[in-house]
Amino acid sequence: MDFDDFNKWAFKELGINLEAYKQEQLNRRITSLMSRVGIKDLNEYKKALLSDEDQKQKFLDFITINVTEFFRNTELFKELESNIKKDLLPKNNKLKIWSAACSIGCEPYSIAMIMQEISPTGKHSIIATDIDSTILKKAKEGVFGEADIKNVQKNILDKYFIKEDKKIIVNKNIRSMVTFKKHDLIVDKYEKDFDLIVCRNVVIYFKNDVKKVIFQRFNESLKKGGLLFVGATESIYNYKEYGFEKVSTFIYKKV
Ligand SMILES: C[S@@+](CC[C@H](N)C(=O)[O-])C[C@H]1O[C@@H](n2cnc3c(N)ncnc32)[C@H](O)[C@@H]1O
Repeated sequence: MDFDDFNKWAFKELGINLEAYKQEQLNRRITSLMSRVGIKDLNEYKKALLSDEDQKQKFLDFITINVTEFFRNTELFKELESNIKKDLLPKNNKLKIWSAACSIGCEPYSIAMIMQEISPTGKHSIIATDIDSTILKKAKEGVFGEADIKNVQKNILDKYFIKEDKKIIVNKNIRSMVTFKKHDLIVDKYEKDFDLIVCRNVVIYFKNDVKKVIFQRFNESLKKGGLLFVGATESIYNYKEYGFEKVSTFIYKKV
């Protein structure tokens, strides 16, 4: 069995479309994961994934790389905040926001805190999605560690987090602003009418043709004038092709 066959099998049995991810990087990750558990052959690995739920979860976690933190690239979040104030809030106090590929929730909670700061009386909704149901469960709980909050300013920390022993918990009000849902950016339908889509540090793992489709679909999911905020290594060169204008290196507006 080669990686192509393995990808087909994984789609059928595990529902994850590995063909959409950059193959070299992905194959290196699978090989490294197999060697960690002492398996040399994809066939044998397939059997292990089917018979051992724990192994299967480790595989999905490892493939989908969950690294995140609150206010990741702080200066870019400042830029986002100023564009929300300037472009979105003057027209609407019920913004519909999507944090796509949200991992354990640092990103949508950061956005909820920004909205609470700049528009406390607004009725904004934040949908946060990820392909990985285990991390979504963790995200809903809102419990974090020191490393996750290293970019959080003291006043925000005091206002929106509760400290219990070593646990740092996002307060109930902020948690209630975010709805978590399972969603695969490659195979699932996209909701419409968003004012803001935040999708950071996931499309870098996808092949170019897949990335193109995703940007196109984000454009269709936004309202006219809506914003797309991407990761610090993911600026879109041919943004016009997808119907965007450039607001800044990492923020695009639907024309
Ligand atoms: C590196 S994290 C990014 C988290 C957050 N957006 C940030 O920038 O801090 C990548 C996330 O993408 C998710 N992911 C990977 N493939 C996905 C897919 N096809 N659809 C939705 N989410 C996916 C992973 O589960 C992981 O939580």
